[in-house]
Amino acid sequence: MTTSATAPARGQVVLSLAGVNKRFGAVQALSDVHLEVAAGEVVALVGDNGAGKSTLVKVISGVYQPDNGEIFYDGKKVTVSGPSAAQELGVATVFQDLALCDNLDVVANLFLGQERLIGPIIDEAGMEKEAWRLLRSLSAKIPSVRIPIASLSGGQRQTVAIARSLVGAPKVVMLDEPTAALGVAQTAEVLNLIERLRESGLGVILVSHNMADVQAVADRIVVMRLGRNAAEFRVEEATTAQLVAAITGASDNVVAARTARTAHAADAKGASDE
Ligand SMILES: Nc1ncnc2c1ncn2[C@@H]1O[C@H](COP(=O)(O)OP(=O)(O)O)[C@@H](O)[C@H]1O
Ligand SMILES: [Mg+2]
Repeated sequence: MTTSATAPARGQVVLSLAGVNKRFGAVQALSDVHLEVAAGEVVALVGDNGAGKSTLVKVISGVYQPDNGEIFYDGKKVTVSGPSAAQELGVATVFQDLALCDNLDVVANLFLGQERLIGPIIDEAGMEKEAWRLLRSLSAKIPSVRIPIASLSGGQRQTVAIARSLVGAPKVVMLDEPTAALGVAQTAEVLNLIERLRESGLGVILVSHNMADVQAVADRIVVMRLGRNAAEFRVEEATTAQLVAAITGASDNVVAARTARTAHAADAKGASDE
């Protein structure tokens, strides 16, 4: 219990998974999955519907227990027994539905269930100050922290949900489809927030269907297909076509074709050498 106050050095792996399996009845949702994210790194998790992305996020966030496999946090093997265990560990998740309370203001939403107290009294002034600090750290454009969530735009709501995930000072933040419901300008705003998270040294796992978003903000792209790791790219070395091929499985055909060609060429050479 010595590491929680010190941020891991940038580039140091903060969370990793190895050999993770998860089955739902007849469906093998995750097969031998591995994943790692370093401090100050954005890892995009992409894949078609049913690829296992959400299941993986839920395993990391303690919603599901893996059937087997290992999870390491800060180099130590851990068991994420539930969502509160994940939070205590320092793994925060912004789920797709955001789970904000429309009728409550920004401060109340940020500290929902984790209100600050001075003795028996809720520390409204302290929470308001901390709310502004968090929003400033994200360079967030929120007009007031005392307005109800209902009056905010979709991008601002996503901002509040991301700010809330930072209340417990996590080292890893997972975002499930944070731009799925947003327009162009608001998407750009959320991508800026993700940049801020990276700059502040967090490990970020971004689940997204949007290849443009992924290519704009990710450092590394992990492709899942049918519950398995299908491919992995540094962002600068993957074209959209390659990503799509890996997501759909067409890459298998390319690899198969190349392997066949290489084997054929070797055979031909072998034959001519004789
Ligand atoms: N709670 C569940 N019960 C049964 N099957 C599930 C459950 N959650 C996910 N699955 C199945 O596991 C597979 C992976 O799903 P999911 O992780 O939601 O994929 P993705 O988020 O990539 O679309 C799918 O075949 C899905 O139907
Ligand atoms: Mg999903």
